[in-house]
Amino acid sequence: MERKILLKNVDVPGIRTFEVYRSTGGYDSVEKALKKMTPDEVVEEVKMSGLRGRGGAGFPAGMKWSFIDKKSGNPRYLICNADESEPGTFKDRYLMEKLPHLLIEGMICSCYALGANTGYIYVRGEYKYIIGILNQAILEAYEKGFLGKNILGTAFNLDIHVHSGAGAYICGEETAQIESLEGKRGNPRIKPPFPAVVGLYGCPTVVNNVETLANIGFIVNNGGGEYAKYGVGKSTGTKLISACGNINNPGVYEIELGLSVREFLYDPKYCGGVKNGKELKAVIAGGSSVPILPASLILKTAAGEERLMTYESLADGGFVSGTMLGSGGFIVYDEDACIVRNTWNLARFYHHESCGQCSPCREGTGWMESVLHRIENGHGRTKDIDLLVSIASKIEGNTICPLGDAAAWPIASAIRHFRHEFEEHVLHPEKCINSTIRQFDDVTIS
Ligand SMILES: Cc1cc2nc3c(=O)[nH]c(=O)nc-3n(C[C@H](O)[C@H](O)[C@H](O)COP(=O)(O)O)c2cc1C
Repeated sequence: MERKILLKNVDVPGIRTFEVYRSTGGYDSVEKALKKMTPDEVVEEVKMSGLRGRGGAGFPAGMKWSFIDKKSGNPRYLICNADESEPGTFKDRYLMEKLPHLLIEGMICSCYALGANTGYIYVRGEYKYIIGILNQAILEAYEKGFLGKNILGTAFNLDIHVHSGAGAYICGEETAQIESLEGKRGNPRIKPPFPAVVGLYGCPTVVNNVETLANIGFIVNNGGGEYAKYGVGKSTGTKLISACGNINNPGVYEIELGLSVREFLYDPKYCGGVKNGKELKAVIAGGSSVPILPASLILKTAAGEERLMTYESLADGGFVSGTMLGSGGFIVYDEDACIVRNTWNLARFYHHESCGQCSPCREGTGWMESVLHRIENGHGRTKDIDLLVSIASKIEGNTICPLGDAAAWPIASAIRHFRHEFEEHVLHPEKCINSTIRQFDDVTIS
């Protein structure tokens, strides 16, 4: 039996409106938290739930909340990170589009727990149409007394504002996002100090992903212990996975953590198998920033264990034979996919999106893109392959923010698992370029 927390009511007609959402038990958690619980009790329940941040890093949400500086006397802020620019990831968009009140309900409980009277939703610039949906839901929440002054007759006040990004991937990184909200260029800050101590306008701030915050209503209503009954081990709860690429059923799925990768990939309820009956070549399991794994390692670990959709199982084998759950962007490649071209494409993305603040990332992403472009276009040299590995190793761990790692890992892992394809491109460029053109004949190579 499939158990759902977030998308349980997604198909209820009119669920986007306050009335319908409220009739399904929506906003009950706000009544409970504000009238029956102290802020610290809400934090405790979130800790007990084991909920981990759904933005990619998987940091425990309750622990992050407990770091918020309550002694400074400064205002505290909650920022909902709705930037979602990671290639292959489109689950927050689905959540906000279909269930905007679920996010607002979660934000109200979270702000109450943190002692924040102002919350921001930082929305990816390209999701323009979602801003209207969110603003409408916020307006309804104000009208019904769930936002504004003296919410539900209590002493708690809260305003939520929607802020549009301007199309920069780096503004998804929490400190760059804070800079951007302050009206500055989105350059990541050096940590520490962490946002929980010095965040927005120099005040204590928590930044959480949309999906993370959307889980809070359930935790408040049912208790952290109940939430922890979903999932396995330290991967509690459910996870939204956006599945795309060469599969029969691309889309957004809510899975209980612990489902096997095999079931997720082949069951008609989820991806429904590789399209056109082709063989599976590779999967990027957690958004473009995580290492790619070949078919042989995504279904089973190197030790032969069934690979599960959990933080731990996907990471089994470290970066030698494992990967990460990341943001849950599940990208599938069939036997005809060109790994070199795909890697070049990702390198172009990271080069374009590097903020340029750190030399290894600014320069390194550019060099990786150029070398991959050369290989992909039939002018590669055998030594280029090790050159790429070397550049990636010099970026990783040497930048202010993890964009550098995110740029290095896809390239290093593609070469680790598919070196033969890179060699083939160097040794037999005519063969590879032809196959590339056949495969992508709608793409112009500049
Ligand atoms: C380059 C880069 C882009 C990121 N983009 C996002 C994003 O779009 N959404 C998101 O929630 N987290 C993103 N993150 C992670 C955030 O920095 C942060 O860890 C997250 O918002 C914390 O929320 P969580 O604990 O609920 O996951 C990004 C990180 C990096 C380095």
